[in-house]
Amino acid sequence: MKVRKAIIPAAGLGTRMLPATKTVPKEMLPMVDKPVIQYIIEEAVASGIEDILIVTNRAKSAMDDYFDYYPELEERLDRAGKEKELAEVRRAADLANIFYVRQKETKGLGHAIGRARHFVGNEPFAVLLGDDIMRAEKPVIGQLIRAAEAYSAPVVGIQRVDPEQISKYSSVKILPKEDRIYGVADMNEKPTKSERLSDYAILGRYVLTPEIFDILENLKPGFGGEIQLTDGLRELCKRRNMMAVDFEGRRYDTGNLRGFLEATIDFALEHPETGAWLKRFLKDKAEIL
Ligand code: G1P
Repeated sequence: MKVRKAIIPAAGLGTRMLPATKTVPKEMLPMVDKPVIQYIIEEAVASGIEDILIVTNRAKSAMDDYFDYYPELEERLDRAGKEKELAEVRRAADLANIFYVRQKETKGLGHAIGRARHFVGNEPFAVLLGDDIMRAEKPVIGQLIRAAEAYSAPVVGIQRVDPEQISKYSSVKILPKEDRIYGVADMNEKPTKSERLSDYAILGRYVLTPEIFDILENLKPGFGGEIQLTDGLRELCKRRNMMAVDFEGRRYDTGNLRGFLEATIDFALEHPETGAWLKRFLKDKAEIL
């Protein structure tokens, strides 16, 4: 099982980050000096992915433009001797083979993944949610791909969450296999605390197999009246072996204000141009507060 393709669903309306996301896609908001989606694409590329399909909608053309060349700008940077900026602008366009498909109706994550059927064909594929950024030594989707290849099975990325927070996620019933790797027996989307199947939630990363497409096509709307990927995976895990990886790394939900600010601070602290300065700035602030 070799995973070469990835899907990034990025067709949400960004309603948790308004008004900033009224006309700027949330995936294009700057995380220090790069848009959020670039971190996700870099994670996929660092994990051996070559072809990436972004599921967009009619309000998101800034994304296609970003991953294109921009001759006028590049010429201007070249003439001004701004080599570093020129290299960065070019690098974004050359990261991977990027394809786009529009989700014409906002009908949920499962419906968005269904739009990728023709792109995927008969291969296993990775899914990276467009607003979940990971900070990890080993790229998170790569950790899942390794498990998918070892077990020849679809894999979901999980971590333990506070039981009070589980209703924001899907919970997974897991069976221990080896260190950080579990079998998946069941799952449910946005459970209440008492409905949860464990304290482990799926957090934004999946490796799936093409059987999911038939399941998604026949799925009835679930939580929130939307076609839920979790409902499709629930069906899939009953039909075949599915694994979960308790991945190493920190996940940030950049689709909400707090997650976005936490990620901004952590990434800025690590950035060579801002790290030392931000540390001093935060220390000074902490003294005043
Ligand atoms: C989605 C998924 C959910 C998952 C969560 C975090 O929910 O439907 O199963 O736990 O992402 O990755 P959303 O954040 O879109 O409500």
